[in-house]
Amino acid sequence: MDAAAPLLLFDSGVGGLSVLAALRRVLPDAPVIYAADNGGLPYGTKSEAEIAARVCGLLGRMSERFRPRLICIACNTASTIALAMVRDVLNVPVVGTVPAIKPAAEATRSGVIGLLGTAATVRQVYVDRLEADHASGKTLLRFAASELIGAAEAKLRGKAVDPATIARAVAGLRDQPRGDRIDTVVLACTHFPLLTDELASTFGPDVRFVDGAEGIARRIAHLTANQRFARLRPDRAIFTRGDPDLDALRPALARYGLSELEVLA
Ligand code: DGL
Repeated sequence: MDAAAPLLLFDSGVGGLSVLAALRRVLPDAPVIYAADNGGLPYGTKSEAEIAARVCGLLGRMSERFRPRLICIACNTASTIALAMVRDVLNVPVVGTVPAIKPAAEATRSGVIGLLGTAATVRQVYVDRLEADHASGKTLLRFAASELIGAAEAKLRGKAVDPATIARAVAGLRDQPRGDRIDTVVLACTHFPLLTDELASTFGPDVRFVDGAEGIARRIAHLTANQRFARLRPDRAIFTRGDPDLDALRPALARYGLSELEVLA
């Protein structure tokens, strides 16, 4: 294994940075390429076929180009739809992001769990299976909080988050039958942990949040145990489209250790 071979983290936008933060804590020396398919954002309102084709195609291209030692699909939407397909076509270990229903079911005291995800994620059979396997006997209330994607993207570009956007997402769960009993919320989209402060102040102090980031980071550390890491160049963020507002992301990317920004040619 080439010690400079990177870990490739992939998301439709900045959401995967919430996974990168956890990864940095366990593998600070690992060279990373963060890839954002901003040309395809948002995934959550696309069809399954569109997401699968896009993710398989892009990861195939990026894996030839960047020769990663491991790919992490740091996106619940892409993982719940395309993880198996990507694993079938690529000859590199692929770690996905699974909605953290199991830890939420273990943590809840009231027995009522909320789940915020994209429209595509909340309708997946994959989520039905997680619910049946890990949360039977509990109530799982789902809400497609598509607006939060744009709010997280804006926040990382230094813009203010509109409290009304957060309030609508919270009401989407609270207003369902038994929603007032929710004590645990699964953030089943990697963009949403970037809004934890805003969500926490609207949900109130009795609600805890769970997401998959720590578990994914531990899984990557396990799969790369005993491998050597050498960072020969600064870690970078790659975008699939050269949007004019990408420069506004530079300070946030730098906070996650991504000091270079490129657009995929
Ligand atoms: N960050 C992605 C996820 O975890 C989705 C954002 C999007 O809709 O593109 O599901």
